Amino acid sequence: MDPIKNPFVPGAGSPPPELAGRDSLLEQARIAIARVKRGTPAKSLILVGLRGVGKTVLLVRIKEQAERDGIKALLTEAHEGKSLAALLIPQLRSILYSLDIIANAKEKVSRGLRVLRSFIGSIKVTHNEIEYELGVDPEVGVADSGDFEADLSALFVAVGEAAKAADTAVALLIDELQYLNEKEFGALIMAVHKINQERLPFLLVAAGLPQILGLAGNSKSYAERLFDFPRVDALPPEAATSALAEPVAPFGVSFSPDALTRMLEVTERYPYFLQQWGYEAWNVSAGPEIGAPDVELATGKALRVLDESFFRVRFDRCTPSEKRYLRALAELGQGPQKSGAISEVLGVKVSTVAPIRAKLIQKGMIYSQQHGDTAFTVPMFDAYMRRVMPGNDWKSA
Ligand SMILES: Nc1ncnc2c1ncn2[C@@H]1O[C@H](COP(=O)(O)OP(=O)(O)OP(=O)(O)O)[C@@H](O)[C@H]1O
Ligand SMILES: [Mg+2]
Repeated sequence: MDPIKNPFVPGAGSPPPELAGRDSLLEQARIAIARVKRGTPAKSLILVGLRGVGKTVLLVRIKEQAERDGIKALLTEAHEGKSLAALLIPQLRSILYSLDIIANAKEKVSRGLRVLRSFIGSIKVTHNEIEYELGVDPEVGVADSGDFEADLSALFVAVGEAAKAADTAVALLIDELQYLNEKEFGALIMAVHKINQERLPFLLVAAGLPQILGLAGNSKSYAERLFDFPRVDALPPEAATSALAEPVAPFGVSFSPDALTRMLEVTERYPYFLQQWGYEAWNVSAGPEIGAPDVELATGKALRVLDESFFRVRFDRCTPSEKRYLRALAELGQGPQKSGAISEVLGVKVSTVAPIRAKLIQKGMIYSQQHGDTAFTVPMFDAYMRRVMPGNDWKSA
């Protein structure tokens, strides 16, 4: 069928034609934001899920929803090698500026900007353009202790107070949260703790890979009280069916029952793969019914495209020794594997490859659900590794 009309959108963060199976999560976020706006305590949210399950798309939707409800929402993405401070400063600055137009908030906004200026000074990041644009003196004695945790808390409180004076709430959305380091994540937790205690209208909604759960470190007990960690997983069969059937229906197109069954099997109901397979199936099919043979053709194409994009970009970020570790993990199959079994495949001691494993967790390639377990953060990555490094040569490389 006409590829121009193809409704499917495989791609990082691309809003899907049908956001299937996530209504209760969106409702949970809406309620939490509405509660903090009223000054009623609510837990901040951290969405946890593997690559391609739709975390970014959910954050974007939550942001739009919050804005429709009159809330100031900002979405930012953590990166490896970028500090949390550098990430938050421009975001919080624009929140404060957007609150400045509200008459009652002017005084608290000015104070917020002075506190932000103190914070910038205390973390000594070189943000000359921000200092220049802020055009205010620092608020002496606030957010300038040099203790990142205390200073971040003081900054969040100042922003929360400005939002309260403006009779609104702030939703800070952070994607790829696993790229924060333990100290930064700890400080973020304590800052959220502080705004909760003071019942300020400020909520954090974040998303990241399962390694987040191990990052809380010393702040773990706080994290458990302050946050909900909803899992974002593969879709249940009904939602996966809607994700495929709803987008094509307006074109008078449908999937045959066999084709649908097969689509749910080959995609394992992962949102990214549903989009990719849907996209290929539409293109190869003559329509108006997409049949099982179309799905078989689509499978070959979808895998080729994924191998060149979705899987490939992640593989390319690894060093040769990291690739060998991943290949050994893949040798053992899909599910979580024991460190001992992986090192056995490699013919080395667990301690020899422990630094490689740690680096791969930090890079977001693998995660450990339980001590000593290792699994891929990218669904179907095991099969990809076997395709891209076939045979046994890699063992001796
Ligand atoms: N609920 C859903 N129903 C149908 N398609 C979806 C759904 N959620 C996401 N998708 C599609 O899945 C793909 C991946 O979504 P997204 O980029 O949000 O995933 P992610 O979890 O952020 O992945 P990553 O960890 O790689 O950043 C996109 O093509 C998107 O359109
Ligand atoms: Mg994402």
